[in-house]
Amino acid sequence: MSKVIKGGTIVTADLTYKADVKIEGGRIVEIGPNLSGTETLDATGCYVMPGGIDPHVHLEMPFMGTYSSDDFESGTRAGLAGGTTMVVDFCLPGPEQSLLEALQMWDNKTSRANADYSFHMAITGWNERVFNEMETVVKDRGINTFKHFMAYKGALMVNDDEMFASFQRCAELGALPLVHAENGDVVASMTAKLLADGNNGPEAHAYSRPPEVEGEATNRAIMLADMAGVPLYVVHTSCEQAHEAIRRARQKGMRVYGEPLIQHLTLDESEYFDKDWDHAARRVMSPPFRNKQHQDSLWAGLQSGSLSVVATDHCAFTTDQKRFGVGDFSKIPNGTGGLEDRLPMLWTHGVNTGRLTMNEFVAVTSTNIAKILNVYPKKGAILVGADADIVVWDPKRSKTISAKTQQSSIDYNVFEGKQVTGLPRFTLTRGKVAIEESTVKTKEGHGQFVKREPFQAVNKALSTWKELVAPRKVERSGIPATGV
Ligand code: URP
Ligand code: ZN
Ligand code: ZN
Ligand code: ZN
Repeated sequence: MSKVIKGGTIVTADLTYKADVKIEGGRIVEIGPNLSGTETLDATGCYVMPGGIDPHVHLEMPFMGTYSSDDFESGTRAGLAGGTTMVVDFCLPGPEQSLLEALQMWDNKTSRANADYSFHMAITGWNERVFNEMETVVKDRGINTFKHFMAYKGALMVNDDEMFASFQRCAELGALPLVHAENGDVVASMTAKLLADGNNGPEAHAYSRPPEVEGEATNRAIMLADMAGVPLYVVHTSCEQAHEAIRRARQKGMRVYGEPLIQHLTLDESEYFDKDWDHAARRVMSPPFRNKQHQDSLWAGLQSGSLSVVATDHCAFTTDQKRFGVGDFSKIPNGTGGLEDRLPMLWTHGVNTGRLTMNEFVAVTSTNIAKILNVYPKKGAILVGADADIVVWDPKRSKTISAKTQQSSIDYNVFEGKQVTGLPRFTLTRGKVAIEESTVKTKEGHGQFVKREPFQAVNKALSTWKELVAPRKVERSGIPATGV
């Protein structure tokens, strides 16, 4: 049983060319002209691209007294409908919980996944058990990324000493630390003042986390990573201040990766001033949406390569859940959806406007993150031997985004009413057609966990350098006698 995607133009991160793609056993087995197989998928007029990888989602996440509403079934279905074929979720150990016990809980959520997935492990506290378990997580469980929340004081937040210890451990294990970079102490203090002054609406959420809060934390995390001799991945980079810190570090040769979200690229802070409380609260997330100057900075970062990946941070709460925060913005569950809309919105606002080339589009939605996560070219590639995670992209198909037709289980969409041009004709997950235009053919349980090996290249380079410049005792003769 084989499939051939026929008549399309292959677009990868570095090449654009006409060829057919033959698939067998869930993998690409041949690329070339005039291929045939038992089943043909017509890609005439379409681009054949690696399926999207969203490295930042929270499915059924316990957070702020509730659970995010999309689970691994609806979340991966939403992803596939929009051309995303792999997601990476965050395993969040509770206070004092073992990392391995938390991982068991996360494993239990995934049995209905429609597409492949992986996990990042969060470090939410520091002790000897965490130090020891990190090794098992990397070596036995195939997780090579550790997330650190510099915000959410009193919940997920870690302090600098904990973060620095964990970064050093990541360096030893060949793992990559991730940070949610906002200064949690300052946010807590500003939140208290805003509430005391009677600023309790959703707009105050944005006031409580200005760009400086993010810029400071981003810079701090970069400096700690540099001192620990480890690369760093900064999630949901939303503003010029954070981008500037990343840009500066990269210019100095540091291995730092920045991840803007499709929401921050296309939606701005005016959403929080909407007179409708629900409208504003539905858009409450951290960091908050910013103004147009910040958006321009993020687009420029994608164009110039100082920012590497576009993600969603998909963390969907219903309107009822958002209403937990009526009268106190700090109780509005933080998070927005976007899994189904990331690729169409980025194509429409990036490729169709000339801000991004098609190849850059593939790089920032799939290939760059596959390389950063060390799953390339199994994922993120149209190459013989790669998994057949493919989107056949029709640049002429249009739709108006609406909650009425979305796959996500929540009752609204932050992109409601936006017109997009560029949509999947087919989405394939390891060779299985999951989406054919508007028809959903997903299969619950098809998704598999993707193991990720520790890093070779970047971590090795950094540890070699660190060893070379490590402190060395100067051997001296004629040392003066100690004090009288
Ligand atoms: O507001 C957000 N981003 N919610 C999800 C959790 C996180 O901080 O990534
Ligand atoms: Zn975050
Ligand atoms: Zn509205
Ligand atoms: Zn997140």
